[in-house]
Amino acid sequence: MTLVVRPCYTLARSPRIPVLSQPFHIRPAREDDVPALTALYNQYIETTAITFDLEPWTVERRREWFKQFAESGRHQVIVAEQDDEVAGYACSTKFRPKAAYDTTVETTIYVKQAAHRGGLGRALYTELFRRLKREDVHRAIAIITLPNPASIGFHESFGFHHKGTLDEVGRKFGKYWDVAWYEKMLT
Ligand SMILES: CC(C)(COP(=O)(O)OP(=O)(O)OC[C@H]1O[C@@H](n2cnc3c(N)ncnc32)[C@H](O)[C@@H]1OP(=O)(O)O)[C@@H](O)C(=O)NCCC(=O)NCCS
Repeated sequence: MTLVVRPCYTLARSPRIPVLSQPFHIRPAREDDVPALTALYNQYIETTAITFDLEPWTVERRREWFKQFAESGRHQVIVAEQDDEVAGYACSTKFRPKAAYDTTVETTIYVKQAAHRGGLGRALYTELFRRLKREDVHRAIAIITLPNPASIGFHESFGFHHKGTLDEVGRKFGKYWDVAWYEKMLT
């Protein structure tokens, strides 16, 4: 299903002034999105500790990653397209390799910085969870490097609850980072 979102006014959190959001649409990712998905993700690898990858991915490696997804099932990836470009994506992936974990997925979302607070994140997760509702998925887990108030506000607004924080489990840019675990009930 393709969801077309028309221009709308949203309120920026700080300062609370109206900002115009450009139209975008939400759809399942296609193989030909992989270069754009790679570039979007690599920007976060190179400039933030939001992801614990240390080196940028090649497009070829991202193509392998893309093979885990389908338009139905527990593992899906959807994109927000704006001005004919991929401006964000959200996906559900295997949480842990052992089979009893299969009804749990890890969800991840990246929206390009220039589009933040424009409603793309909300539209992406809304569509991802609408799809996951049809699947045999019981729990979703989000793993958030701290600090990340935007991601915490975002995930809490989708019904994720904080279940614990691991202390200094990642090292990137020469320092250690804490990671918070958030859980959402789907059934
Ligand atoms: C987290 C992220 C996906 C949110 O996407 P977005 O398109 O900016 O979010 P939206 O405009 O759809 O906002 C939806 C809701 O999220 C919450 N939210 C978004 N940004 C927030 C912020 N900076 N502070 C607090 N809450 C925030 C709000 O509840 C917001 O609803 P509201 O606008 O009605 O108040 C985006 O900030 C992002 O890509 N961040 C970098 C990558 C990242 O951290 N990913 C998560 C990894 S765990």
